[in-house]
Amino acid sequence: MREGQSAVIYRADYQPPPFWIDTVELCFDLDPAKTRVLNRMKLRRNPDVPQQPLKLDGDELNLARVMVNGQGTSFRMEGSRLVLENLPEGYEPFELEIFTTCSPAKNTKLMGLYVSNDSFFTQCEAEGFRRITYFLDRPDVMASYTVTLRADKQKYPVLLSNGNLVDHGDLDEGRHYARWVDPFRKPCYLFALVAGQLVAREQKIATRNGKEHLLQVYVRPGDLDKTEHAMNSLMASVAWDEARFGLALDLERFMIVATSDFNMGAMENKGLNIFNTKYVLANQATATDTDFSNIESVVGHEYFHNWTGNRITCRDWFQLSLKEGLTVFRDQEFSQDLAGEASARAVKRIEDVRVLRTAQFPEDAGPMAHPVRPDQYLEINNFYTVTIYEKGAEVVRMMQTLVGREGFARGMTLYFQRHDGQAVTCEDFAQAIADANPQSRLHELLPQFKRWYSQAGTPRVKAGAHWDAVTGQYELSLSQSCPPSPGQPAKEPFVIPIAWGLIGPDGREVASGMHVLTQASETLTIPGAPAGAVPSLLRGFSAPVILDFDYTDEQLLALLEHDTDPFNRWEAGQRLAVNRALAAIHGSGEIVLDNAFIGAMRSILRHRTLDAAFKELVLTLPAETYIAEQLDVVDPQRVHAVRESMREQMATALQDDWAWAYEHHKDNGAYRPDPVSSGRRALAGLALTHLCIAARSSGDGVWPGKAYQRFKDASNMTDRFNALSALVVSGQDLARSALDKFHCMFKDEPLVLDKWFSLQAGAPDRGGNILPAVRQLMQHPDFNIRNPNRARSLIFSYCSANPGAFHRADAAGYVFWSDRVMELDAINPQVASRLARALDRWRKLAEPMRGAAREAIARVAGKPDLSNDVREVVTRALA
Ligand code: PHE
Ligand code: ZN
Repeated sequence: MREGQSAVIYRADYQPPPFWIDTVELCFDLDPAKTRVLNRMKLRRNPDVPQQPLKLDGDELNLARVMVNGQGTSFRMEGSRLVLENLPEGYEPFELEIFTTCSPAKNTKLMGLYVSNDSFFTQCEAEGFRRITYFLDRPDVMASYTVTLRADKQKYPVLLSNGNLVDHGDLDEGRHYARWVDPFRKPCYLFALVAGQLVAREQKIATRNGKEHLLQVYVRPGDLDKTEHAMNSLMASVAWDEARFGLALDLERFMIVATSDFNMGAMENKGLNIFNTKYVLANQATATDTDFSNIESVVGHEYFHNWTGNRITCRDWFQLSLKEGLTVFRDQEFSQDLAGEASARAVKRIEDVRVLRTAQFPEDAGPMAHPVRPDQYLEINNFYTVTIYEKGAEVVRMMQTLVGREGFARGMTLYFQRHDGQAVTCEDFAQAIADANPQSRLHELLPQFKRWYSQAGTPRVKAGAHWDAVTGQYELSLSQSCPPSPGQPAKEPFVIPIAWGLIGPDGREVASGMHVLTQASETLTIPGAPAGAVPSLLRGFSAPVILDFDYTDEQLLALLEHDTDPFNRWEAGQRLAVNRALAAIHGSGEIVLDNAFIGAMRSILRHRTLDAAFKELVLTLPAETYIAEQLDVVDPQRVHAVRESMREQMATALQDDWAWAYEHHKDNGAYRPDPVSSGRRALAGLALTHLCIAARSSGDGVWPGKAYQRFKDASNMTDRFNALSALVVSGQDLARSALDKFHCMFKDEPLVLDKWFSLQAGAPDRGGNILPAVRQLMQHPDFNIRNPNRARSLIFSYCSANPGAFHRADAAGYVFWSDRVMELDAINPQVASRLARALDRWRKLAEPMRGAAREAIARVAGKPDLSNDVREVVTRALA
């Protein structure tokens, strides 16, 4: 280990803290260049652990003074930690006062206290508080906070922190102050402050018990007209958590603040959530339906953390999924409940599974694979992953499946009875859900079930069917396995709930049930099955596994037509498409879509009763990354070419049907982002894209003309952007002028400009044109690599979301990638290390890409002074 490099942290090494911090009084003199922080704490020794020195975490702080019980004291530094040895003996509380300064204006990592658009913000999760003051920066140390903010009144009229405003007033020299007291003890990662020129949309609400609460959404003055949807989402979240789980808002005041410089989506600081503007600001002119629905779920997510995360928090960061998996599950359920009807719920479920399978499955099969509860990390910021979040949510969902919806709500109640106010583990949660349901399969299988927390990798379930003509018995053989993952060569069987059904030859369901697979292999016997029945397995995606069943085309076509489970109906269509893509990729690379497939897609598109949103999902081909995951050796350009060819054929063969779909779904009256009308817009958008693609092959100008017109006339961003994207994706000449117009229309809307960058960087490659375009866009006056949203919109859209353009045989994409990873690492290691993961799956690449990718990774790994963040990702990639 080199000097200054830190070491791997192991879950097994957990020790309770040697000191408790009961109260924290923070006083800030806010100044961008030099902010002064006075931190007065009451501490006492933890009687349960052997006496040892106090070692406080710190990072990039300037230490001015340390006092114990009002007296100067000796101290020493151990790396960046402040060590105090001569503390009072015994277990009586003592006072520790620390005075430091920091430089928010220079903070480009966006961790700790930083400046964005002349306002101050903080981000403390996971380990940002130590960049504000010396502290025991770990989630199991929970304290009561009193915070005083002092700043120039004109520049920073609004001064916010957690909890309740207890005092405020003017000071000398045009300064003012505000004092906040948080009534709840909290870990320091939930601390927040905000200061700046902000305005708020306000809403008073009453919770069930009759208590009044004030909800506020703070934004920059020009953005107030984009806050209505966030506020509505917040009110819906408050109502939902009370109705579904009996969890009421526990604060008099709940605030959301938006900032355009933010590493992640949003942060659940107690009573003072800080959000990326992307997940707050929306009106119909600037935000798409997807933006509206993301805002709803992120606002819900952060609000739900108030109970799952804040009232009960994590004992250590290995338990991150305790709060994240559970809270993602809760926000998914929230969005489903708001969507209403069963078909709209299914659409949301399909979307969630799509994320899991295109992002988490590859992670689970790659060098960064880790269990939902990891055993080790070098940099905790690298573990805010789709595994912790989305797979973690699937684990919680399986628990609900095993105990039932009501049983799960009972389990949540017991969880809060046992652990409110504590910092606990994933095991504590699972135990509470099981104990509240002593008769359940979860209770019976709990030790085995917990392997979902400890074993990484995506299990595979292989199913085979046998029908006995004499007895009418349908036998399903089920066997499970799980490939090795880093540090875990062999896996034990999982508990896998498999929801199943059997569809008769007439299309009617003959039986259905839930089988809980626990052994390596088992047989499920279904009596009284007719000849030609088709199994529908893993309905609703009842477990996060890969299901192998050797379906014939006829069986898949039957499921697509008749399955009563909408998820598997969609899945049948995906399997038909994937099978065709794989055959072409393994074969000549040429593909001719058969009439059966085209006909089935036509029947769905023209179906009389199916929702538009569902049709859009069925008619969207599986993503290139999803297809790539099914291959042992991947040539991304070949995958891209095959998928493009499939799309062209669907465009041409279904041209009349797309025209019909467009005409029948394009008008939706006054804009509302509800599931029905957004589903209609999505289908109209997909139709328009296909019509422009078909026009490109035929050279016809009618549809591009219509798309251009639509682009200009649209009354909302969804329709406008879909039309623009149809032109860009299909490579129409009109795309250029539409893009220019779009930029001109929205030059003052940063979130819309992000879309503009991202659309160009993610466009289909035509003769290698995307990389030069991306390089040129990096010179655009609106590009700024320091702003994470902007960096993501251009660089990530190219490197992580455009495999056909990124994986070039000449390696230029990889060279670009390595340059950007290193450039970003000097600015913001968290953003850099996300980008570093674009090459996670390099080992699967075909030559010459494979060798070139390895070289590019090695180039990054060889750079001196890499952050822990990037170093961990690249060393694991090369291991
Ligand atoms: N805890 C945040 C969430 O999931 C995510 C986050 C992590 C934000 C780290 C910032 C920093 O809601
Ligand atoms: Zn979260």
